[in-house]
Amino acid sequence: MDDTVATERDFTSRWHTPPNFRIAAELIPFKRAFPDAGHVLDVVRKDPETRIAILGGADPAVRTARSAAFRAAPLDEIATWPFRLVHFNLSRFYDGLLCDFQDQIMIPWRTFLSSQGFTWQRCAPTLFLSTHGSSSTYHADNSHGLVWQIEGTKTFHSYREPDRVVSVDAAIRSEITAEHPPPHEATDRQSIRLRPGDLAWSHILTPHWVSSESDLAMSVTISHGGLCHQGSYALREAALRQRWDTHPDEPWLTDLRNTRY
Ligand SMILES: [Fe+2]
Repeated sequence: MDDTVATERDFTSRWHTPPNFRIAAELIPFKRAFPDAGHVLDVVRKDPETRIAILGGADPAVRTARSAAFRAAPLDEIATWPFRLVHFNLSRFYDGLLCDFQDQIMIPWRTFLSSQGFTWQRCAPTLFLSTHGSSSTYHADNSHGLVWQIEGTKTFHSYREPDRVVSVDAAIRSEITAEHPPPHEATDRQSIRLRPGDLAWSHILTPHWVSSESDLAMSVTISHGGLCHQGSYALREAALRQRWDTHPDEPWLTDLRNTRY
């Protein structure tokens, strides 16, 4: 499946129900400008809020040694290690590495959403860097995501009909999270291959996983919590909020305290 949302009308009609979709570059108004992945890796790896997972079949002692050396080892060497790096708080770099990010990306994107009748409670970017052969976990997020592939190639996997595979309740309770997806029919899977400059929409509370297919792949996902179009939530977000009505201790833990999901 490779349908692409290319018009504002398509976007405002497709955003509130799965499946995910590719977005035509010309629809998104922000200038795709970002420092190169090697430089980003070199700066971000030293930040204490950076999360790094060393992957691969190397023995545990090797993975432990690589984890310890990650912040100081030569970049060329790190690029040969299977790893994934995530940073949920890019505002830490707004006065340096990402000094243009607000003006060039976030403000135009928020302006676009507003102009199309959207409102939201949270809107924040997350950085993902990974190497060939590495993969994200299998999970679902409490937010809609605009996925922007910046450098290298990744494939964003999800299901064509997530309602047939995972109930909203199971996704809300995070029961599905695992290192790898469960066995499934290839025909049920929706895989969107993302090359530099490509964009995709990740629907709230739908299971997904991402595989990296280049030496160094970098993407940013802008996540949106409480996204509404003309006053209406997507169905899966409405289910989440109904759950919070009956479990009022949970929003604090899963949404309001953590800007990252
Ligand atoms: Fe995700």
